Amino acid sequence: MELSGGLIKQFQPSKRVVVLTGAGISAESGIPTFRGEDGLWRRYRVEELATPYAFQTNPKLVWEWYDWRRGIIAKAEPNPGHLAIAEMERMFPHFSLITQNVDGLHRRAGNNKIIEIHGNLWQLRCVKEGTVKEDYRVPLPEIPPKCGCGALLRPHVVWFGESLNKEDLVFSYRLIGKCDLLLVVGTSAVVQPVASFPLMAKRQGAFVVEVNKNPTPISSMVDTFLRGPAGEILPALLGQIKEHWGK
Ligand code: OAD
Repeated sequence: MELSGGLIKQFQPSKRVVVLTGAGISAESGIPTFRGEDGLWRRYRVEELATPYAFQTNPKLVWEWYDWRRGIIAKAEPNPGHLAIAEMERMFPHFSLITQNVDGLHRRAGNNKIIEIHGNLWQLRCVKEGTVKEDYRVPLPEIPPKCGCGALLRPHVVWFGESLNKEDLVFSYRLIGKCDLLLVVGTSAVVQPVASFPLMAKRQGAFVVEVNKNPTPISSMVDTFLRGPAGEILPALLGQIKEHWGK
């Protein structure tokens, strides 16, 4: 795949690069996305399951969904798209990754400078004490899982209707506010506040590139829209950046 020279020139190694990812980056690892054809679990939509209300009314159902996802993710491996992003972190001294994904695959691919803005499903939080612990058991021996204090544990993720972690949000706004280049990968760009990051970056003068299999609400405003699978486009992009910039 030959990408335009003008695009490759934007990836000058001294630039402040932010990569923003969504479920599409993990699709080629076999992890279903939330929306679109594979986006339904049983007959539920993500908006019906990933809410405090759903957890209050049926914690077992919500945990069955998370346990099912944990099972898929445990067997999955980072794909060439994740690996290309990990290599970008090593290549660009000013690099940050903001992910909406809770699967932990970016870390497994080798990224360290990550903001997991929607949390991580390998972490469990006590609804009473607020304590967080890691638990990698698949399947979980007890559904819903309980804390030693007797209260329920919940996934340490952000649900619809909940606020994002304030520090993560402030840090993300700061990164978006001063980046030179934003690479948006595999997100339907409909869940706020993350969905507004590309426009914010564009407004402050950053060059915005989108990689997605399908057009999204931001495709018409980005500087370059690369349509196709991230697992093919990102390695091709990285290869041409390395060739051009001699890294
Ligand atoms: P979605 O499932 O909404 O969107 C996935 C996007 O990835 C779509 O735009 C697809 O076209 C694209 N896509 C699929 N396969 C791809 C591939 N191989 N290469 C490139 N693009 C591909 O996922 P998100 O936008 O991440 O939040 O969803 C945002 C949030 O909604 C999630 O973090 C989650 C969900 O509810 C919470 O749970 C709070």
